[in-house]
Amino acid sequence: MTEILPGPAVDPARFRRVLSAHAAGVVVITGQTEGIPAGLTATSFSSVSLEPPLVCFYVDQNSTTWPKLKDADQFAVNILAGNQAELAARFARPGIDRFAEPTRWRPGPLGTPLLRDTAGHLLCTPYTSLDIGDHILVIGLVTDALVHEPDQPLLYHRGRFGRFMPHN
Ligand SMILES: Cc1cc2nc3c(=O)[nH]c(=O)nc-3n(C[C@H](O)[C@H](O)[C@H](O)COP(=O)(O)O)c2cc1C
Repeated sequence: MTEILPGPAVDPARFRRVLSAHAAGVVVITGQTEGIPAGLTATSFSSVSLEPPLVCFYVDQNSTTWPKLKDADQFAVNILAGNQAELAARFARPGIDRFAEPTRWRPGPLGTPLLRDTAGHLLCTPYTSLDIGDHILVIGLVTDALVHEPDQPLLYHRGRFGRFMPHN
């Protein structure tokens, strides 16, 4: 157990504001348990290790979707394309069936939902998870990776979705 040292904490509003200056790619984590698909939008996705191939994301302890995903044998990281901002918003919206029309998806291996027209997919088996602060760190072992063309990514910055603009 890590000892928590008393000390000055950053002002929460400033913390959020500085974090929002960090542009991030947008993914939707999907899985299914007992035939029911579930998914949520996340920007906390990151690669962790190449050997073994590991990736991670962080999910809010209060998420109502995570309990539906956490027992899945497999989950997919759907890397959203630049024209999928509405899809990202849809998978963050409470109280709707996120997989209903106009969401376009298909069941992949083991029935894991794969969103259509994404920049890429990673298929993962749960590797480990850790309660950390008010989030859960989820690490997945990547078993398959699919890249799609064009792979123009969706980005999130200061509360808005946008696209990547290369220097040349
Ligand atoms: C751009 C964006 C990024 C998000 N990133 C995360 C994230 O990394 N982790 C997380 O737990 N929730 C994240 N959310 C929020 C969840 O998508 C959303 O709160 C959740 O799906 C709705 O609550 P539920 O989990 O109870 O369904 C993000 C939302 C948006 C719009």
